[in-house]
Amino acid sequence: MCPVTTETTQSPHDQIGGAPVFDAIANRFYDLMEQDPAYAELRAMHAPDLEPMRRSLPRFLAGWAGGPRDWFEANPGKCMMSMHRDFPIDRQTAGQWAEAMTRAIADVAPQPETIAQAMTDVLSRMARGMGR
Ligand code: HEM
Repeated sequence: MCPVTTETTQSPHDQIGGAPVFDAIANRFYDLMEQDPAYAELRAMHAPDLEPMRRSLPRFLAGWAGGPRDWFEANPGKCMMSMHRDFPIDRQTAGQWAEAMTRAIADVAPQPETIAQAMTDVLSRMARGMGR
């Protein structure tokens, strides 16, 4: 196949490395949340067991980035923004989410850098948009 065609038709999910990369980002994100006191308030909002989130977040992110849509099929009509409206998210916890995600993506350092950077920017904006 023509390499240019391949490059332009691949989803961000595939370009960045697929499921293993989303698993690595989510695991690093929840490791940071569990280990770094800078995210204590964010950690306290979550259930004691983060295992379900370590499975759910990467599946959401994968579908969101154009990969397999199993999270969306398991959660029909669920909107991330409205789902989070029920949580008491303020500017501090929204900022902690954005910062921990930015660090997680930087630590995993997936390639290409342009997609990693775009994902960091959009996720940070989305998280900050949830803070009140
Ligand atoms: C703004 C800061 C955010 C806070 C404080 C926050 C907090 C939470 C909390 C407390 C839960 C419930 C899980 C539990 O109780 O253990 C949750 C679920 C979830 N959050 Fe967030 N969240 C934030 C932003 C985001 C963003 C930006 C995304 C995605 C881009 C996201 C994706 C998810 C997913 C996928 C779930 C699980 C939904 C499910 O599978 O049922 N969160 N979040």
